[in-house]
Amino acid sequence: MAAVLALAGCGSTSRRPPIEIFPDMDRQPKIKAQTTTLRPVPGTVAQGQLQEDESRTTGIASGMYIGRNPLPLNRETLSRGRERFDIYCAPCHDRLGSGHGIVAQRSSWLPANMHDARVKNMTDGELFSVATHGRRSMPAYRFQVSESDRWAIVAYVRALQRTTSATLEDVPAELRRDLR
Ligand code: HEC
Repeated sequence: MAAVLALAGCGSTSRRPPIEIFPDMDRQPKIKAQTTTLRPVPGTVAQGQLQEDESRTTGIASGMYIGRNPLPLNRETLSRGRERFDIYCAPCHDRLGSGHGIVAQRSSWLPANMHDARVKNMTDGELFSVATHGRRSMPAYRFQVSESDRWAIVAYVRALQRTTSATLEDVPAELRRDLR
């Protein structure tokens, strides 16, 4: 018994490390959590943190609202924009954007008319910013509506606005006669 205890190193005053019969993985090469602050490797970005183009996220470049929608203007963008507008904006602004949605009818809120010259004269970046952060009494939609959907909505608002400012020149020449 004494021999076993001595072997295990108990009570030993020796400066040499005790003899271990079963090390049981007591010592392993490893890094413990929180022992050093992990910093991103220079020149790398964590997954999901990439902000390729700030103007796309904010609608602003060099302190100015950007003029043009970064999304391609095509049928897909517009139909997505219409779908999202009808869900998220029409309750207040109505589906034509004139500001008489069901919420406006039943409350004292006064949503803007998208066909007012003031709103028509806004750049795409400013419209995006209003949808993102809200303005005065209008709530923000950045949590409900994704970034690209907000840009699609902007494209669709532009299409809505065209419906009240289009001229005969916007109609293909061969169809103009029917409208006169
Ligand atoms: C809950 C009601 C509500 C919803 C939903 C809503 N708005 Fe509005 N919006 C308003 C009100 C109210 C105003 C007027 C704000 C003011 O002048 O106080 C407004 C104003 C605006 C304006 C004009 C801002 C200005 O400078 O006068 C724009 C552009 C606009 N909204 C776009 C949108 C878009 C795009 C959506 C959908 C993402 C949307 N709104 C959804 C209530 C709403």
